[in-house]
Amino acid sequence: MFYITPVWEKHLLESADKEEMHSLLNLADTVRQENVKNQVCIHGIIEFSNHCHSLCTYCGLRAENRVIERFRMSPEEIKKTAVNAVKKLGYKMLVLQSGEDLWYDANKLSWLIKGICRQVKCLLFISIGNRDFETYEKLYKDGAKGSLFRFETSDKRLYQELHPDCCFDERIGHLKFMKEIGYLIASGPIIGLPGQTTDSLIDDIYLMKELGVTMAAMGPFIPAPNTPLEGSQAGTVEMTLKMIALARLIYPKVRIPIATALEKLGGNATRIRALKGGANAFMLNLTPPNYRKHYQIYPGKNSMAIHQHSKETVEDLTRIIKSCSRYVCKGWGVDFILNKKRFLSGCAMSG
Ligand code: 5AD
Repeated sequence: MFYITPVWEKHLLESADKEEMHSLLNLADTVRQENVKNQVCIHGIIEFSNHCHSLCTYCGLRAENRVIERFRMSPEEIKKTAVNAVKKLGYKMLVLQSGEDLWYDANKLSWLIKGICRQVKCLLFISIGNRDFETYEKLYKDGAKGSLFRFETSDKRLYQELHPDCCFDERIGHLKFMKEIGYLIASGPIIGLPGQTTDSLIDDIYLMKELGVTMAAMGPFIPAPNTPLEGSQAGTVEMTLKMIALARLIYPKVRIPIATALEKLGGNATRIRALKGGANAFMLNLTPPNYRKHYQIYPGKNSMAIHQHSKETVEDLTRIIKSCSRYVCKGWGVDFILNKKRFLSGCAMSG
């Protein structure tokens, strides 16, 4: 077991020394190899609505942004997109994400999840924001077995500043509840938020560990137009890469996907650096093309070519993964995080 002292954690995050950065990423690569081997998982995400009643100050979908065009996919259309992704494209794990949009009430979501699980075998993650506990329970029983729900920052004071209509303890309470009833949890911080300290970034990693997240879902901040933070500085590629590497050292077995925001900031070269510095998963965009441009959490999201054509992207990505002497894991990321029995009992399969 590798042990890194708190002083070193802080030093490494703050250091501008290229050699130290290089060593950190190399060490993370070794720890990754020892703990989670050479598989890289490819997950898919369907962004089904950009309506949102929340006011998170960094997010382009916030309710007070009257400039973006809003869309909602019908439950039928979401189901078709998901079933197609599994049947035709071979995805095994899907995230269904939206803004906090109560138009999709518990019944609609339940219908959707049951409908997908009846037709295909896949691991479904919901990413729909704050809901009441009964809804989380219902959707879990219906077949959603994971939840992507970032805590955004472990700094309570900063959390409050960024979320005028939500509070940190409530967010963590929801995460803990979901974990308790069986959901696999994907959570983590935004990196480079205005006012965020390196101490709090380190706390973020420990919070992911404490919560027992299956996936360390973290990515850099990118200022979005028409939000209170539009004039702020973006997070950096370097800090995000360091956070990936440090998370790998502190929480060696966690799955670390490469966030689209990091791909957006740093392009393909960064993606490869992340893969060689502790990361072991990708999240590809499966939102139907006519909606993608409207899901502007931050500007230019989904503009990268690889996120635009669902079929080619898997092949492109497989090539990149192989070029790093790694391989796409057989179950596309389901088999090695999941207790199969629980999976099958929760999600009836068609064949
Ligand atoms: N930059 C980076 N990430 C963002 N998110 C929202 N807005 C931004 C932004 N401007 C992230 C949050 C949210 C997830 C859906 O997207 O972490 O939970």
